Amino acid sequence: MALYVDSPWIEEVEQAVEWGVVEGVTTNPALLAKVETPNNKTLSGLSRALQHKGLVFYQPTAETNEARLQQIHAMNREVGMGLLGVKLPCNPAHLKLAKSLLESNYVVGMTAVFSPGQVALACAVGAQYVLPYVNRSTRLLGDGPELIRQMRTVIDSMGSQTQIIAASIKSPEEAYDTLAAGAHHLTLPFNVLKEMAQHPLTEQAIEDFAKAAKDK
Ligand code: G3P
Repeated sequence: MALYVDSPWIEEVEQAVEWGVVEGVTTNPALLAKVETPNNKTLSGLSRALQHKGLVFYQPTAETNEARLQQIHAMNREVGMGLLGVKLPCNPAHLKLAKSLLESNYVVGMTAVFSPGQVALACAVGAQYVLPYVNRSTRLLGDGPELIRQMRTVIDSMGSQTQIIAASIKSPEEAYDTLAAGAHHLTLPFNVLKEMAQHPLTEQAIEDFAKAAKDK
Protein backbone atom coordinates (compact mmCIF):
# COMPACT_ATOMS: atom_id res chain seq x y z
CA MET A 1 0.00 0.00 0.00
CA ALA A 2 1.32 3.43 -0.90
CA LEU A 3 0.11 6.90 0.02
CA TYR A 4 0.16 9.74 -2.48
CA VAL A 5 -0.46 13.40 -1.74
CA ASP A 6 -3.08 15.07 -3.90
CA SER A 7 -1.59 18.54 -4.16
CA PRO A 8 -0.09 21.16 -6.49
CA TRP A 9 1.77 22.83 -3.58
CA ILE A 10 5.49 22.08 -3.41
CA GLU A 11 5.76 22.96 0.32
CA GLU A 12 3.07 20.38 1.13
CA VAL A 13 4.87 17.70 -0.83
CA GLU A 14 8.20 18.61 0.79
CA GLN A 15 6.64 18.25 4.22
CA ALA A 16 5.00 14.90 3.42
CA VAL A 17 8.34 13.69 2.02
CA GLU A 18 10.11 14.82 5.21
CA TRP A 19 7.66 12.70 7.21
CA GLY A 20 8.60 9.79 4.93
CA VAL A 21 5.00 8.83 4.28
CA VAL A 22 4.32 9.45 0.59
CA GLU A 23 5.50 7.70 -2.54
CA GLY A 24 4.13 10.07 -5.12
CA VAL A 25 1.96 13.05 -6.00
CA THR A 26 -1.30 13.33 -7.88
CA THR A 27 -2.56 16.50 -9.49
CA ASN A 28 -5.56 17.39 -11.61
CA PRO A 29 -6.39 20.42 -13.77
CA ALA A 30 -8.45 22.04 -10.99
CA LEU A 31 -5.61 21.68 -8.48
CA LEU A 32 -2.99 22.95 -10.96
CA ALA A 33 -5.19 26.00 -11.65
CA LYS A 34 -4.87 27.00 -7.99
CA VAL A 35 -1.17 27.84 -8.31
CA GLU A 36 0.24 30.75 -10.30
CA THR A 37 3.20 28.95 -11.87
CA PRO A 38 2.95 27.36 -15.34
CA ASN A 39 2.05 23.68 -15.16
CA ASN A 40 5.46 22.47 -16.41
CA LYS A 41 7.23 24.40 -13.62
CA THR A 42 4.75 23.12 -11.02
CA LEU A 43 5.18 19.52 -12.16
CA SER A 44 8.98 19.68 -12.23
CA GLY A 45 8.93 21.36 -8.78
CA LEU A 46 6.71 18.59 -7.41
CA SER A 47 9.07 15.98 -8.83
CA ARG A 48 12.04 17.78 -7.23
CA ALA A 49 10.16 17.84 -3.91
CA LEU A 50 9.84 14.05 -4.27
CA GLN A 51 13.62 13.95 -4.83
CA HIS A 52 12.80 12.37 -8.20
CA LYS A 53 11.97 9.14 -6.41
CA GLY A 54 8.26 8.76 -7.13
CA LEU A 55 5.58 9.40 -9.70
CA VAL A 56 3.97 12.77 -10.30
CA PHE A 57 0.60 12.33 -12.00
CA TYR A 58 -0.50 14.83 -14.64
CA GLN A 59 -3.85 15.04 -16.43
CA PRO A 60 -3.77 16.63 -19.92
CA THR A 61 -6.58 18.99 -20.85
CA ALA A 62 -6.29 19.57 -24.62
CA GLU A 63 -9.31 18.79 -26.76
CA THR A 64 -7.96 16.07 -29.05
CA ASN A 65 -5.84 13.01 -28.40
CA GLU A 66 -3.16 14.39 -30.71
CA ALA A 67 -2.94 17.61 -28.70
CA ARG A 68 -3.11 15.72 -25.40
CA LEU A 69 -0.22 13.58 -26.56
CA GLN A 70 1.83 16.71 -27.21
CA GLN A 71 1.04 17.99 -23.70
CA ILE A 72 2.07 14.64 -22.22
CA HIS A 73 5.34 14.45 -24.17
CA ALA A 74 6.19 18.03 -23.16
CA MET A 75 5.47 17.25 -19.50
CA ASN A 76 7.48 14.06 -19.75
CA ARG A 77 10.49 16.08 -20.94
CA GLU A 78 10.12 18.27 -17.81
CA VAL A 79 9.62 15.51 -15.29
CA GLY A 80 11.45 12.57 -16.88
CA MET A 81 10.33 9.22 -18.24
CA GLY A 82 9.52 6.80 -15.47
CA LEU A 83 8.66 9.72 -13.15
CA LEU A 84 5.53 11.00 -14.91
CA GLY A 85 2.20 9.28 -14.43
CA VAL A 86 -0.61 10.19 -16.84
CA LYS A 87 -4.17 10.47 -15.53
CA LEU A 88 -6.93 10.15 -18.12
CA PRO A 89 -10.64 10.42 -17.26
CA CYS A 90 -12.11 7.10 -18.36
CA ASN A 91 -14.04 7.43 -21.63
CA PRO A 92 -13.65 5.92 -25.11
CA ALA A 93 -11.30 8.60 -26.48
CA HIS A 94 -9.07 8.41 -23.41
CA LEU A 95 -9.00 4.60 -23.49
CA LYS A 96 -7.67 4.86 -27.03
CA LEU A 97 -5.02 7.34 -25.86
CA ALA A 98 -4.19 5.08 -22.90
CA LYS A 99 -3.53 2.19 -25.25
CA SER A 100 -0.99 4.16 -27.27
CA LEU A 101 0.67 5.62 -24.15
CA LEU A 102 1.01 2.14 -22.65
CA GLU A 103 2.64 0.95 -25.87
CA SER A 104 5.19 3.75 -25.37
CA ASN A 105 5.85 2.61 -21.78
CA TYR A 106 4.02 5.39 -19.97
CA VAL A 107 2.42 4.81 -16.57
CA VAL A 108 -1.32 5.39 -17.00
CA GLY A 109 -4.09 5.82 -14.45
CA MET A 110 -7.68 5.93 -15.67
CA THR A 111 -9.23 8.58 -13.42
CA ALA A 112 -12.65 9.98 -12.48
CA VAL A 113 -13.82 6.39 -12.45
CA PHE A 114 -17.31 5.84 -11.04
CA SER A 115 -18.35 2.33 -12.12
CA PRO A 116 -17.03 -1.25 -11.99
CA GLY A 117 -17.56 -1.37 -15.77
CA GLN A 118 -15.05 1.43 -16.31
CA VAL A 119 -12.61 -0.48 -14.11
CA ALA A 120 -13.07 -3.61 -16.23
CA LEU A 121 -12.14 -1.60 -19.34
CA ALA A 122 -9.15 0.01 -17.61
CA CYS A 123 -7.97 -3.50 -16.73
CA ALA A 124 -8.56 -4.70 -20.27
CA VAL A 125 -6.50 -1.87 -21.77
CA GLY A 126 -3.72 -2.63 -19.28
CA ALA A 127 -3.68 0.63 -17.30
CA GLN A 128 -1.47 0.31 -14.23
CA TYR A 129 -3.93 2.28 -12.08
CA VAL A 130 -7.55 3.35 -11.72
CA LEU A 131 -8.45 6.37 -9.63
CA PRO A 132 -12.03 6.26 -8.35
CA TYR A 133 -13.45 9.30 -6.49
CA VAL A 134 -14.66 8.01 -3.13
CA ASN A 135 -16.25 11.01 -1.43
CA ARG A 136 -17.78 12.26 -4.66
CA SER A 137 -19.29 8.79 -5.19
CA THR A 138 -20.74 8.79 -1.68
CA ARG A 139 -22.23 12.24 -2.27
CA LEU A 140 -23.60 11.59 -5.75
CA LEU A 141 -24.19 7.83 -5.94
CA GLY A 142 -24.63 6.68 -2.35
CA ASP A 143 -21.71 4.58 -1.08
CA GLY A 144 -18.13 5.26 -2.18
CA PRO A 145 -16.46 2.44 -0.20
CA GLU A 146 -19.02 -0.08 -1.52
CA LEU A 147 -18.07 1.00 -5.04
CA ILE A 148 -14.41 0.38 -4.17
CA ARG A 149 -15.37 -3.13 -3.01
CA GLN A 150 -17.08 -3.82 -6.35
CA MET A 151 -14.11 -2.43 -8.30
CA ARG A 152 -11.66 -4.59 -6.36
CA THR A 153 -13.85 -7.64 -7.09
CA VAL A 154 -13.68 -6.86 -10.81
CA ILE A 155 -9.88 -6.47 -10.73
CA ASP A 156 -9.36 -9.68 -8.78
CA SER A 157 -11.79 -11.74 -10.81
CA MET A 158 -10.12 -10.56 -14.03
CA GLY A 159 -6.74 -11.55 -12.58
CA SER A 160 -5.62 -8.03 -13.51
CA GLN A 161 -2.47 -6.20 -12.33
CA THR A 162 -4.35 -2.87 -12.34
CA GLN A 163 -4.33 -1.22 -8.92
CA ILE A 164 -6.72 1.20 -7.27
CA ILE A 165 -5.41 4.58 -6.12
CA ALA A 166 -8.52 5.89 -4.37
CA ALA A 167 -8.99 9.67 -4.61
CA SER A 168 -11.46 12.26 -3.32
CA ILE A 169 -11.01 11.33 0.33
CA LYS A 170 -11.98 13.93 2.89
CA SER A 171 -11.25 12.44 6.31
CA PRO A 172 -9.09 9.85 8.09
CA GLU A 173 -12.24 7.75 8.65
CA GLU A 174 -12.99 7.74 4.94
CA ALA A 175 -9.37 6.77 4.26
CA TYR A 176 -9.74 3.78 6.57
CA ASP A 177 -13.12 2.72 5.08
CA THR A 178 -11.59 2.93 1.60
CA LEU A 179 -8.60 0.76 2.48
CA ALA A 180 -10.83 -1.73 4.27
CA ALA A 181 -12.97 -1.87 1.12
CA GLY A 182 -9.98 -3.03 -0.93
CA ALA A 183 -8.20 0.02 -2.36
CA HIS A 184 -4.53 -0.77 -3.02
CA HIS A 185 -3.38 2.83 -2.47
CA LEU A 186 -4.77 6.22 -1.45
CA THR A 187 -4.14 9.74 -2.63
CA LEU A 188 -4.93 12.23 0.11
CA PRO A 189 -5.17 16.00 0.40
CA PHE A 190 -2.42 17.30 2.69
CA ASN A 191 -4.91 18.32 5.40
CA VAL A 192 -6.18 14.72 5.66
CA LEU A 193 -2.62 13.41 5.76
CA LYS A 194 -1.81 15.88 8.54
CA GLU A 195 -4.93 14.92 10.48
CA MET A 196 -3.87 11.27 10.25
CA ALA A 197 -0.43 12.14 11.62
CA GLN A 198 -1.72 13.36 14.97
CA HIS A 199 -4.33 12.89 17.66
CA PRO A 200 -5.29 15.13 20.62
CA LEU A 201 -4.83 12.17 23.01
CA THR A 202 -1.29 11.65 21.68
CA GLU A 203 -0.52 15.32 22.44
CA GLN A 204 -2.04 14.87 25.89
CA ALA A 205 0.11 11.76 26.48
CA ILE A 206 3.25 13.66 25.41
CA GLU A 207 2.38 16.43 27.88
CA ASP A 208 1.68 13.95 30.69
CA PHE A 209 4.96 12.09 30.06
CA ALA A 210 6.84 15.39 30.05
CA LYS A 211 5.35 16.28 33.45
CA ALA A 212 6.05 12.84 34.93
CA ALA A 213 9.58 12.52 33.56
CA LYS A 214 12.52 12.99 35.93
CA ASP A 215 15.99 13.80 34.69
CA LYS A 216 18.29 11.11 36.11
O1 G3P B 1 -7.66 14.52 -7.60
C1 G3P B 1 -8.96 14.11 -7.82
C2 G3P B 1 -9.88 14.00 -6.64
O2 G3P B 1 -9.20 13.90 -5.43
C3 G3P B 1 -11.01 14.92 -6.70
O3 G3P B 1 -11.61 15.09 -5.48
O4 G3P B 1 -12.88 16.56 -3.97
O5 G3P B 1 -12.95 17.00 -6.41
O6 G3P B 1 -14.11 15.01 -5.46
P1 G3P B 1 -12.96 15.95 -5.34
